[in-house]
Amino acid sequence: MIFRQLVEPESSTYTYLIGCENTGKAVLLDPVIETCDRDMEAVTALGLTLSFTLDTHIHADHITGACRLRSLTGCKVAYPADDNLSCADVEVSEEAPLSVGELTIRALFTPGHTDKHHSYVIEQGGHTQVFTGDALLIDGCGRTDFQNGDSATLYKSVREKLFALPEDTLVYPAHDYSGRRVSTIMQERTRNPRLNDEISLSEFQRIMAELDLPYPKKIDVAVPANSKCGDCVEEAVEHLHKIGGKSPQG
Ligand SMILES: [Fe+2]
Repeated sequence: MIFRQLVEPESSTYTYLIGCENTGKAVLLDPVIETCDRDMEAVTALGLTLSFTLDTHIHADHITGACRLRSLTGCKVAYPADDNLSCADVEVSEEAPLSVGELTIRALFTPGHTDKHHSYVIEQGGHTQVFTGDALLIDGCGRTDFQNGDSATLYKSVREKLFALPEDTLVYPAHDYSGRRVSTIMQERTRNPRLNDEISLSEFQRIMAELDLPYPKKIDVAVPANSKCGDCVEEAVEHLHKIGGKSPQG
């Protein structure tokens, strides 16, 4: 497997380039509209062909690069089937994994940050990697107060789906606001201050209820744009630049 973790600094978003070394086919997971050209330089430099984009959820803090990458390359846009997006070419679900060359990307339904959020698992050569989107962050998790989020639902997703993975599974989140890049399931189970194995559901619900985060600055532009797979007018991108800044916790 060919793998690159790419960073979009304004929203602190990680975009993952995942390629099949035997077929040269690749997918970009959670691409950001502003960094599509940079992402394609990485795809080309590695001798890969972009077959798909794939998103973990409808983001509120940035606009996906899905549509722009489809225009640039002719790739297919994949989304969770639950999102029911007419702009998507391919739908993934727990029953319908995504094949990228000889790689299989298995979807895990992990709602709670949004009600349709999915994580993605790749098992290869005895090693497991999970791309947790905004469900599980390093020492944290995504907020649960917008987009039909629910803290009890997120707790169940993390405990029953993500923490059930092998303890040495590498955890790659959609964001980190301190530049951390990777964790493991065991590390999160032991030291995540919100969701470690010792935290009860009621304690987690209290932590999430008391976060008191600001209204997401970009949500009113980003969610409508992302509901069209990022097929938005340039003014929307410009508008987000004017708003600027990060929206902590996805
Ligand atoms: Fe998010």
